[in-house]
Amino acid sequence: MTLHRLREMHAAGEKIAVLTCYDAAFAQVLDAAGVDVLLVGDSLGSVLQGHATTLSVSVEDMVYHTACVARGNRGAWIVADMPFGSYQESPELALRNAVRLMQAGAQMVKLEGGGWTVPAERFLVERGIPVCGHLGFTPQSVHALGGYRVQGRGDSGAQLLRTQTAELADAGADMVVLEMVPAALAREVTQETRLLVIGIGAGAGCSGQVLVMHDMLGLTRGKPPRFVRNFAAGAADIEGAVRQYVADVKAGRFPDDAVHGF
Ligand code: KIV
Repeated sequence: MTLHRLREMHAAGEKIAVLTCYDAAFAQVLDAAGVDVLLVGDSLGSVLQGHATTLSVSVEDMVYHTACVARGNRGAWIVADMPFGSYQESPELALRNAVRLMQAGAQMVKLEGGGWTVPAERFLVERGIPVCGHLGFTPQSVHALGGYRVQGRGDSGAQLLRTQTAELADAGADMVVLEMVPAALAREVTQETRLLVIGIGAGAGCSGQVLVMHDMLGLTRGKPPRFVRNFAAGAADIEGAVRQYVADVKAGRFPDDAVHGF
């Protein structure tokens, strides 16, 4: 997979199927099942390490898991999360840490937040590192945002999301994850921007969809978020569940805004 191919898919109206992935074994399965993009998410702090948030994930953790995924993967595009504290201080610090992730096998790095992240994002893009933004609900800011809350509501919330998306595109980024924003707003933003928009709890109108793999395999205890579907229910095996996810994303059957949207 290449960035060029992802853009072609979007231009042709083909949805991009993304899942989180943290190791070589699952990278092999997800890649074989047709997932376009593997996101080495800092959600590994919750799903692998058992923390309540992603805040304790280190650059070393991300480098280790990115290298594991890269060894198992053959064809999918690999995006690695820049963890909390690895890019907030300065564009130079962001570059040093992004280089480590790229050397571990990432093809793109993802930074959370809008506005203040733009200098670092521009700095990375100018130095040849593809960038994905992450707007709407940003888990590294969970305490500042007052918990797991839908973002972009109301006129001012919608305007803020539009402005942040435009600034990210202007900085030269290629992709953005929109998390927990109203489906109608995400659809409009996707139509307005040149960025590839990957939604999670952002409705069916995005260029593609992402879920945390453990959530869509039904491995997460407790009540799942509204935007999750358990694809393991009824599947013969893990690869079958992932194939169903890819097929449903591409056919527009997942997500269903009436069930999974805000
Ligand atoms: O870390 C992660 O898994 C993510 C997804 C929630 C998009 O950023």
